[in-house]
Amino acid sequence: MSIDALKAAVGAAVVWDRAELASRDPGFDSRNFEALALVRPANVEGVVALLRYCTENGISLVAQGGRTGLAGGAATTGDQIICDLGAMNRIEHIDPLARVAVVQAGASLAAVQEAARAYGLDPGIDLAARGSCTIGGMISTNAGGIMAFRNGTMRHRILGLEVVLPDGRVFDDLTRVLKVSAGYDLKQVFVGAEGTLGIVTRAAIRLEPVPGASAIALIAVDDAASAQRVVGHFLGRASLRAAEIMWQKFSQTMAMMLGIDPTSLPLDAPCLLILELESDTPENAARELEEGLAEIWSEAHIRDGIIANSLQQAQTIWRLREETEQLERRHSHPPSFDVSVPGGALDDYVSRIRTGLSTLDARLDAYVFGHLADGNLHIVINTDGPLAPDRHSAIEEVLYAGLRDMGGSFSAEHGVGIDKRDAYERHADPVKLELARSVKALLDPKNLLNPGKIVNRRPRETD
Ligand code: LAC
Ligand code: ZN
Repeated sequence: MSIDALKAAVGAAVVWDRAELASRDPGFDSRNFEALALVRPANVEGVVALLRYCTENGISLVAQGGRTGLAGGAATTGDQIICDLGAMNRIEHIDPLARVAVVQAGASLAAVQEAARAYGLDPGIDLAARGSCTIGGMISTNAGGIMAFRNGTMRHRILGLEVVLPDGRVFDDLTRVLKVSAGYDLKQVFVGAEGTLGIVTRAAIRLEPVPGASAIALIAVDDAASAQRVVGHFLGRASLRAAEIMWQKFSQTMAMMLGIDPTSLPLDAPCLLILELESDTPENAARELEEGLAEIWSEAHIRDGIIANSLQQAQTIWRLREETEQLERRHSHPPSFDVSVPGGALDDYVSRIRTGLSTLDARLDAYVFGHLADGNLHIVINTDGPLAPDRHSAIEEVLYAGLRDMGGSFSAEHGVGIDKRDAYERHADPVKLELARSVKALLDPKNLLNPGKIVNRRPRETD
């Protein structure tokens, strides 16, 4: 492939060659920029031209958004082209009456949140990478985040989708209404597909009315069951925006890495719960938090709790939970996992994996934290990575054992990418796997879109 031919084919799009890619920041995953070239189309016609070019020349294409993915879904190899959606970042339309936003795939979550806020609305989904992650990337991993317990995951936020298929056809299903009972909901096949079936270019997103103010509490408890009792109490009486849990090893290490005064927070508790509650004013939100906590205090065996009384204190509490790149500073590329555990089994699960890990190796332990109210736990192992394959598999066995039988999932919100592909093969129902491969073959018969991710191997890879 010549860069000149690629440039001629994609017209106005920005194109970086390999040398230019080497001088740029690849984001979270160093494999993101190992490609032949990066193309940044300005519009859907540019994506169509790029896909046609790739199909005609048998070159595979990897779509990228904010490059904040955590499972290698956007990783490239030297013979691939990147389709960077970053220039397609327009918020095209907000309809405050219908509570819908139509946005291009490259718009960041923070930009959509800000645009919606002007109308007293919110996309109803939020996560730590909000400033960088894009709507297209969130659709492609079916992102979840901190509000999923209340508003669902990305697939529930999508009303309509526009997707360019490998042969350049445009799948235009940009409905802007909630109720569509017209046969197969094919757009959902592209949600969580990590760019293996088509490239998402535009989406219609549901918006939620928001009260406008909130208050935050950090509550010390003995275990997840106590924290769940507190959450259950608030669910029935207030507008809960977040309910995040952190086990002690995580919160103490994060506080140390962030230089937070250990005496300012109840860091000696086995578990910390962050509750964020919404109301019309900050004072009302704080009052509702205070009253609710007083009502449930003894029943839930709350050990201690603080309600943030300044923006700075609220930010410190959120930094403790969200600045998880601190764990990367402590351990180089620590193995990281992202599971969904049914709510009633959280404490048993956490104690079982700790025992399992220390049985494998007495030095192994886990930083555990996550989205309490939907059971999505993030587990980061206290060791440098990447691990030797057999060690990695042994850890996966400990973390994933029994999850499927109990109705959980080995992948909650970070996708499959490359990193969880083996787990997908081992843990997915065989019929589901077979259907997934058929869908891939139907939509991308030449295996050009993000090959080697989720269900299939690249031609030269061996099993
Ligand atoms: C979080 C990311 C890691 O919840 O999913 O912080
Ligand atoms: Zn998360």
